[in-house]
Amino acid sequence: MRSIRWTSHSYEDTLALGARFAKCLKAGDIVCLFGDLGAGKTAFTKGIARGLKINPHEVHSPTFVLMSVYEGKIPVYHFDLYRIGASDLLDIGYEEFFYGKGLAVIEWSERLGALMPKDHWHVKLAHQGDDRRNITLSYQGVSLKERFDKAAKKLA
Ligand SMILES: Nc1ncnc2c1ncn2[C@@H]1O[C@H](COP(=O)(O)OP(=O)(O)OP(=O)(O)O)[C@@H](O)[C@H]1O
Ligand SMILES: [Mg+2]
Repeated sequence: MRSIRWTSHSYEDTLALGARFAKCLKAGDIVCLFGDLGAGKTAFTKGIARGLKINPHEVHSPTFVLMSVYEGKIPVYHFDLYRIGASDLLDIGYEEFFYGKGLAVIEWSERLGALMPKDHWHVKLAHQGDDRRNITLSYQGVSLKERFDKAAKKLA
């Protein structure tokens, strides 16, 4: 199996999925989120935060800052590339956060271009009308294969 697909029927559903997924994550991981405006990327990130014992109310898209840091079971580095570009990432020394001591979660990963990490959890969110969203989890990179298989069993 290479991907797991869920249908979320509500905002709260998406949070709950993110929280369940968070149990499969560890420090050093990178979660790349893909999907249009309002697809639920921030909602899913709030869910991940909840799963890591971070108050989801702390989580907002870091629109006017380059990155937000949340301290939970592990540090979470939250990026949103809607308004910032690869050059901004280079300026802040993004490697320290992508490949560092915490978990990196990146909204608008479509925009990473050449900085797309070779190994990452790949989460695609798509509108399905009203409050429905398709959420597809897959991965890139051999280092995640075993962990993905385990996660798929746990989350399917
Ligand atoms: N099933 C659902 N899952 C997530 N959000 C939903 C769902 N149904 C409705 N919504 C609504 O869609 C919006 C999702 O907003 P959210 O900020 O999470 O999207 P986003 O992908 O981060 O958008 P942006 O690209 O602007 O950052 C919220 O207003 C939320 O209430
Ligand atoms: Mg967002």
